[in-house]
Amino acid sequence: MGLTILAHPLGSHLLTQLRDKTTEPAQFRSVTRRLTLLLAAEATKSLNTNTVHKETPLEPFDGAELTPVVAVPILRAGLGMLESFVELVPDVAVGYIGLERDESTAVASSYYAKLPPNIAGKPTFVLDPMLATGGSASQAVSLVKNAGAGPITMVAIVAAPEGVDRLLTVHPDVAIVTAALDRGLNDRKYILPGLGDFGDRLYGTEP
Ligand code: PRP
Ligand code: URA
Repeated sequence: MGLTILAHPLGSHLLTQLRDKTTEPAQFRSVTRRLTLLLAAEATKSLNTNTVHKETPLEPFDGAELTPVVAVPILRAGLGMLESFVELVPDVAVGYIGLERDESTAVASSYYAKLPPNIAGKPTFVLDPMLATGGSASQAVSLVKNAGAGPITMVAIVAAPEGVDRLLTVHPDVAIVTAALDRGLNDRKYILPGLGDFGDRLYGTEP
């Protein structure tokens, strides 16, 4: 449990492109997909496998097969991470949680939730690129936990210490995997240095 920070030169290279304010949405989406592949590989490191008996063209062998897992992107921005997760784990069951922070209070409110019916007891990966105050992540984890999911891993691209502290205080049993632990939050609860508003940069909706 606790916090894991991705240590990979390719991850640092890709994150630099996301932070760069001149990166346009098309490039931003592509870099998000590539960086999430690395994060997904890291986050799935301790998944269980079952032994399966198969045959190569030459002889029988004991192989490994993943047990079922669940991914839950937090709308909107978490959607940018889903495709990579599905690419790596094609049999993943997918749920969706819609949360939006109020512009002035930074408090997240829920507008949508649809979780797979058979989520109980399954390793579940909550996907959201930004872990800022931790309010959205804490709410999302509560929702999947109430549905019986577990163990739960929060996969973020950038995390603030405030968000990590809050999520691990509310949910000490959750693992967090991120590409960076940034300095902190500004007075509008944006991550510094961060990369700005992820959803707006991903979808080209910057004001
Ligand atoms: C962003 C981000 C997280 C949340 C993080 O979403 O994608 O969900 O803020 O902030 P928190 O840790 O302080 O809760 P936003 O509310 O901007 O919605 P969007 O993804 O639809 O743009
Ligand atoms: N949401 C974002 O998109 N960016 C931040 O820095 C904080 C919350």
